[in-house]
Amino acid sequence: MVTLLNVEDARRLARRRLPRGLFEYLDRGTEDEVSIAGNRAGLDAIRLAPFALEDVSQRAQDTVLFGTPQPCPLVIAPTAVAGLMSYDGEVAMARAAKAHDIPFCVSTQSMTSIETIARDSGARLWFQLYVWKNRARTFALLDRAAGAGADTLVLTVDTAVSPKREYNQRNGFGIPLKPSVRAGIDVLCHPRWFADVFLRTLRTTGMPTYAHYPDEFRTALGRAVVGDEISLATDVSWKDVAALRAHWKGRLILKGILRASDATRAIAHGVDGIVVSNHGARNLDCAPHPAHVLPAIVAAAGGRLTVLADSGVRRGSDIAKYLALGADGVLVGRAPLYGLAAAGTPGASRVIELLRAELDTTMALLGVTRLDQLPRTLQMEA
Ligand SMILES: Cc1cc2nc3c(=O)[nH]c(=O)nc-3n(C[C@H](O)[C@H](O)[C@H](O)COP(=O)(O)O)c2cc1C
Repeated sequence: MVTLLNVEDARRLARRRLPRGLFEYLDRGTEDEVSIAGNRAGLDAIRLAPFALEDVSQRAQDTVLFGTPQPCPLVIAPTAVAGLMSYDGEVAMARAAKAHDIPFCVSTQSMTSIETIARDSGARLWFQLYVWKNRARTFALLDRAAGAGADTLVLTVDTAVSPKREYNQRNGFGIPLKPSVRAGIDVLCHPRWFADVFLRTLRTTGMPTYAHYPDEFRTALGRAVVGDEISLATDVSWKDVAALRAHWKGRLILKGILRASDATRAIAHGVDGIVVSNHGARNLDCAPHPAHVLPAIVAAAGGRLTVLADSGVRRGSDIAKYLALGADGVLVGRAPLYGLAAAGTPGASRVIELLRAELDTTMALLGVTRLDQLPRTLQMEA
């Protein structure tokens, strides 16, 4: 694993291992991919100014998120179909999270059920929710998540409809998986993934399915239609937030907030945290970069809820930048997925280790020893 020296190394390996359709689903954005370039540019434009001659011999990056201490400010973001990136991918990712003692957020659209992930990984689990049209079934799913030990619910609020990904229409990859000549050739050109992930999954658990869908709707990914009742609701509103708040006993987080006014509304609804996020530039292609809106949102929140951020993190210094802008913690999506695709649990774990080491180096070079000192390093525009 020492051969992976940075996230880009893991990305390159992932590109070689995965069928092109799957890699592009993992890696790319939407429409003209303006936002994906914007995420990089937004983080690159931030400057942190070092304090000279500070004793940095004792550095720590431990923090407390939602009352729970953790050794670094990271959370593994929810990612659909992580289970296809390596064999038993969701459990493998949760094990990497466990090794670093950080939470793993299970996606509604994961291939492995939260019960199995909990049993096989022992990781601290959050659960991400896409609201289905049938709210009763949605609440039943939440009860499963709570029963499996999830202490935090993450309601994703930025995905009212499926975004436009033309490259996936061209390369034949989609959810549900649809057999096509192009996709078949793609898979056969990646025999290692075909044997190690796809065939092995078929042998052990059968055709991959969305594990959280109710049994009567549980479509094998190969089947074209997902039942209407469990298709994503397009009428999700603050009323749903109120209903979730009343139903869910644990922490409630809204993911995909990009406006200060929505943060204030979240506080009024008794929400515990928000993720300032543009979904890793995978949804609205003209969305702002989180770094641009984060300071105003942090100011509006005024310490009344926990503010997390994500999108575009590829270096430890990116984590330092989000924290310097006022975030309490940072979610990482693609970075550990690249590691997972490259080498399973050790690959994902190695990526987290690299990010932590880079954050440590950044702190030392900035002359700070604790995360709460990072906002002082922010170089304001003249
Ligand atoms: C392959 C993939 C699948 C994703 N699936 C979900 C999902 O099911 N639910 C969700 O809320 N976010 C999903 N996301 C978004 C991530 O949770 C996160 O916001 C994003 O990846 C952060 O940007 P980054 O990848 O640049 O770190 C997904 C991201 C990726 C890369």
